[in-house]
Order: sequence, then structure tokens, then C-alpha cells
Amino acid sequence: MKLPFAFARRFVAGENFEEAAPKVEDLNNRKIKVTLDLLGENVRDRGTADQTLANYIELLNKINALELDASISIKLTMMGLDIDPSYARDNVFTLLESAQKKNQFVRIDMEGSDYVAPTIDIFKEAFAEYGKHVGIVVQAYLHRTKEDVAELAEMGADVRMVKGAYKEPERIALQNMPAIRDAFKEYTSVLLQKTPYPRIATHDYELIQWTKEYTQQNHIGQARYEFQMLFGLRQTTCEELTDAGYNVRIYVPYGTMWFPYFSRRLKERKENIWFVLYNLLRK
Ligand code: FDA
Repeated sequence: MKLPFAFARRFVAGENFEEAAPKVEDLNNRKIKVTLDLLGENVRDRGTADQTLANYIELLNKINALELDASISIKLTMMGLDIDPSYARDNVFTLLESAQKKNQFVRIDMEGSDYVAPTIDIFKEAFAEYGKHVGIVVQAYLHRTKEDVAELAEMGADVRMVKGAYKEPERIALQNMPAIRDAFKEYTSVLLQKTPYPRIATHDYELIQWTKEYTQQNHIGQARYEFQMLFGLRQTTCEELTDAGYNVRIYVPYGTMWFPYFSRRLKERKENIWFVLYNLLRK
């Protein structure tokens, strides 16, 4: 069964680029940068993965044509990671070749724990070749992240720090919020100390406040990092942060394959269910 798009409207900017673009322009006009995410995951055939690669390249062209202040995020399972890691790697390299020519930036989102090792491997190879044009994500809840952060920080990689959005077993990931918050703070401090421009991606007031205090105490200027949030969430906080001189970027997903992203947002916070109902009733 396919739900009508009206359900997802609160979190997803549109079913195609043309619907999403005015929302990106509006954010840019308010000094907020954007990461565009063409939704989809777990592609199982080469035809679809090849088409996805073409769509991502076209997206980079459209961003430049409209002069949007936007980069893109991709998922390796959209580029064929489930089919063959070396095929996914080749697709990423083709995309990054295009991004480099256009002076664009591509971040590789982090997916479920089965994909973390191959994603980091592909990222490391890509970083060696394309440097500042590629970034990665680390998830605070994973036990392995302490070592990943140490290695990525040593490389000076461009890292987005998140809590982690997938259901993982106890042997792989922390299960309770205080421990996840502590891990988030520990890894964020390493990234702030050792990498040029970490991205702190959270809606959590405690973590936002902690970041502000930690950076002030350690004389890390506002220009050295950015906050990231998801489209449709905490808009007022984003504007307050921007007004106070912080860099803010909003992750703007769009596309017809919105259901898995949408259901992760609903599971994350019960208030998000109310947002959806409110949005439906308003229409
Ligand atoms: P969380 O949902 O844990 O909420 C904690 C507290 O924050 C709440 O109790 C409340 O006090 C406050 N709060 C949260 N949302 C609020 C709201 N809307 N209004 C008011 N208060 C609110 N994950 C992943 O696995 N791989 C990835 O690549 C990414 N990428 C990514 C990019 C960006 C830009 C973001 C912001 C997030 C991701 N994530 C992700 C998702 C991430 O892992 C995580 O699941 C969500 O951000 C939810 O965790 P939070 O820390 O945002 O708050």
C-alpha cells in the first residue's frame, strides 16, 4: 500500500526537485545552507543504481544552475552496495569526479550497521582521491565509533556526527539515551579538536547547548563548525542559531521513495506523529 504524499509533507520537501527547490531557496534566503537528499535506499539491480547515479549527477547540475547554497547526501545502498561493493565504489567515484569538476560536495550518509565497514572503506578511498569534495557520517550509538572517530579525525575528514537512526542490537550499539548522549559529546569533542569543520547533527537541546559551551570554553570559533537539522524539525531553533551567528545547514529530503525515511522519523519521536496528523488536518 502506498500512502499519499500528504502524510510525508512535514518532513519531505517534495516528490521531485522542482517542488523542493523553492524550499531550498527560501532557506538560503534565511542564511541557512542545505543538504539535498534524493530519497531511496537498498537498490537491488544495476539498472536502478545506474539511473540513481545519473540522477545524482543531474542534481549537482541543477544545484549549480540555480546557484543554490546546497550540497548533496547519498546512500551507498542506492549506488549498488547490496549488489557489489566494488561496483558501488566505482559509482561513487564517477559521482565524485563530477562533483569535483563542479566544485561540489557529496556526503555519504551512514546506514544500518551491516553497511558501516564497507561505507568507511569506500569513504577512505574516496577521501584519498577527492579530499574536500567528500564527507562521511558517524553514529554515536555504535560501539565501534570510538575507533572510527579516532581514525577519521587523524585523517582530517569532514564528518557529520549523529546519534544513529537504525534499530541495532545491544552487542553493536548503546541502547539508552544518557549513554548515547555521552558518546555523542565525547566524539564531538574529538572532531572539534582535530578536524577542520565538523557537522553537529542533532535536534537535542542538551547536545546543542553542550556544543555551544564546549566550543566557548575551548576557544573554538563559531566559523569552525556547523549545526545540522532535518527539514521540518526545530525551525525556530535553526533561525535562533543563525541569528546568534552559528552556521546552520538543513537536510532536505525529496523524492517519491520517502516511506523508509518517513517511518524512521515517526519511530524516533512520538511528537512527530502529532506533527503529521496536524499537517494532514490543516490541509
Ligand atoms: P532525539 O530525537 O533523540 O531527541 C532528543 C531530545 O531532543 C528530545 O527528547 C527533545 O527534548 C529534543 N528534540 C528532538 N527533536 C525535537 C523537535 N523537533 N522539537 C523539539 N525538541 C526536540 N542517522 C543515521 O543513522 N545516519 C545518517 O546519515 C543520519 N543523517 C542525519 C543528518 C542530519 C542533518 C540529522 C539532524 C540527523 C541525521 N540522522 C542520521 C538521524 C540521527 O541519527 C537521529 O536519529 C536523529 O537526529 C534524532 O536524534 P536527535 O539527536 O536529533 O534527537
